[in-house]
Amino acid sequence: MSDTPPPAYAGPQRVFSGMQPTGGLHLGNYLGALTKFVRLQDHYKSIYCVVDLHAITADPDPRSLAANSREVAAAFFAAGVDPKKSIVFIQSAVRAHTELAWIFNCVARMGWLERMTQFKDKAGKHAERSSVGLFDYPVLQAADILAYKATHVPVGEDQKQHLELSRDIAQKFNNDFDAPGFFPLPEPLIQGPGARIMSLRDGAKKMSKSDPSDMSRINLTDDADTILAKFKKATTDPLPLPESVEGLEGRPEVANLVGIYAALSDMSQEAVLKAFGGKGFGVFKPALAELAAQRLAPIAAEQRRLMGDVPTLDAMLREGAEQANAIAEPVMEEVRRVVGFWR
Ligand code: AMP
Ligand code: TRP
Repeated sequence: MSDTPPPAYAGPQRVFSGMQPTGGLHLGNYLGALTKFVRLQDHYKSIYCVVDLHAITADPDPRSLAANSREVAAAFFAAGVDPKKSIVFIQSAVRAHTELAWIFNCVARMGWLERMTQFKDKAGKHAERSSVGLFDYPVLQAADILAYKATHVPVGEDQKQHLELSRDIAQKFNNDFDAPGFFPLPEPLIQGPGARIMSLRDGAKKMSKSDPSDMSRINLTDDADTILAKFKKATTDPLPLPESVEGLEGRPEVANLVGIYAALSDMSQEAVLKAFGGKGFGVFKPALAELAAQRLAPIAAEQRRLMGDVPTLDAMLREGAEQANAIAEPVMEEVRRVVGFWR
């Protein structure tokens, strides 16, 4: 036996990411994921998916599912994802996701999934009453990525563990089916100031659409007055802003607001504190609100415009699904051969 490692994946580099159509998007989604989608499309073949199959793992609602999917897709386009550069589509329109998820169900181990913290958080005390789909959610996520042999996955910090699982599944598939280098081991792209935006009410909780308090988050569709009211009410402390980044230690809510300002203005935290250090929140919060409103208003307007013309939006998404399928279907043909199915 030699010690030479198996050949690594040598195919093209591709970006894939997904977002669930469960309620409107917020500033965390925008800074943690969407702004990266836009930046990456100039450097990689990029594929962005609205993951409606994931959305039915908990509290499915057939009356709103399709509209919510359109809304998230419209937000992608409105934020600057360009259909001439990137592929944008709805997950359930491409069959490869569910087929590959089944095959990966037979690769992933129960023990791996039992360690997933997002399942534990979402299922809470009622794990035995959760859908099997909720437990299996990260396996479908691995299938999303690997159906395109994607090499890079822009996500927020909370998806790190799911990405590690995707790598484990890719590696075990390559080993189990004697196909070295068949799937790439996808790399998460998490870094950046927006990777973990926290709740405006509690600096220990991430900004989330499932938070019952709407004051905890800035929605992409909030108007300038609402944004100002939410930032004004955001939890802080009576001290002025610190002069340096070290001064943010032990002040998570303040660090979060400074991080948001930095991410929205493409400035470093140091530069933000140089401008606002020593000043009070009576000055900083309105400046932050104005900056956020300036960035978000044109996105919300464009999203509304796209949502107002459903036939055009649906045509764009159908075109995206065709392009996605044209990449995934040949991969699935190879997968069926590698697994050894009758063909
Ligand atoms: P979700 O809304 O859970 O489908 O998340 C969509 C994308 O937004 C994923 O890449 C998440 O990691 C990212 N995301 C969600 N919440 C936050 C947050 N508070 N801060 C940064 N990124 C986030
Ligand atoms: N699980 C991701 C989230 O909750 C959404 C998602 C589904 C995803 N499939 C994906 C993200 C594939 C990246 C790649 O945010």
